[in-house]
Amino acid sequence: MLNLELNPQKIVVFTGAGMSAPSGLATFRDNGGLWHQHRVEDVATPEAFARQPELVLDFYNERRTAACAALPNAGHRAIAELERSYQVVVVTQNVDDLHERAGSTRVIHVHGELTKARSTLDPALIFDIGDKPIRLGDRCPKGGQLRPHIVWFGENVMRMEEAVAHFLDAAKVLVVGTSLSVFPAAGLVEYAHSEAEKVLVDREIHRRPEGFRVLQGSADAVLPSLVRDWCTD
Ligand code: APR
Repeated sequence: MLNLELNPQKIVVFTGAGMSAPSGLATFRDNGGLWHQHRVEDVATPEAFARQPELVLDFYNERRTAACAALPNAGHRAIAELERSYQVVVVTQNVDDLHERAGSTRVIHVHGELTKARSTLDPALIFDIGDKPIRLGDRCPKGGQLRPHIVWFGENVMRMEEAVAHFLDAAKVLVVGTSLSVFPAAGLVEYAHSEAEKVLVDREIHRRPEGFRVLQGSADAVLPSLVRDWCTD
């Protein structure tokens, strides 16, 4: 792996659904998770949207309502607090805006964002919709049906090159609440610098990426003390 000069001030935080679980939002693969309640093929693929657009729109309307009603937890706030001492880039697989609402100012959503809609005619047409639903018949100015600005299975993830670049020179890489089971996003951990400090926080330990110190526990319980340690280094 390309080993660039480390930036001692930079921290990359890579998060997944477990980051938002303490805020009451369902994960995907835990017991009772979203993929235990819905078949991916029915709600999270372009084919599903073509076949049953209202079912797909309603699935994301429900998730948008839940995400906008949720509150950032102590883990989100701890990550935002890191910005007082470091250059922090959050790369998240999550599509909620809890990192932003906790105060994080640099957040890269590689799987999209629930609070945005996109034209099916022109993918460059992206609209902030907040907590509003997307209905069949909601169209962009060019007449294209609006869809969730979410990466479905089989679609390209977003801003990966930008995310990789941040992993390459970060002095600290913190991975929180992800099963590391969905690629290419999960492959980002391989770009961590060999000399970087690497920490993985998860309620259960599924994988131990090489060189990572593992802290088992809930994100909202573990992160505040880890951040206190880092900010008093
Ligand atoms: N604190 C920390 N980790 C937690 C907590 C918690 N309170 N609760 C659950 N976890 C951990 C689980 O142990 C698991 O490792 O969060 C992870 C959740 O894994 P997934 O449900 O697979 O979620 P994620 O890794 O984000 O999925 C990646 O898959 O379906 C796609 O696009 C979807 O972005 C998602 C991607």
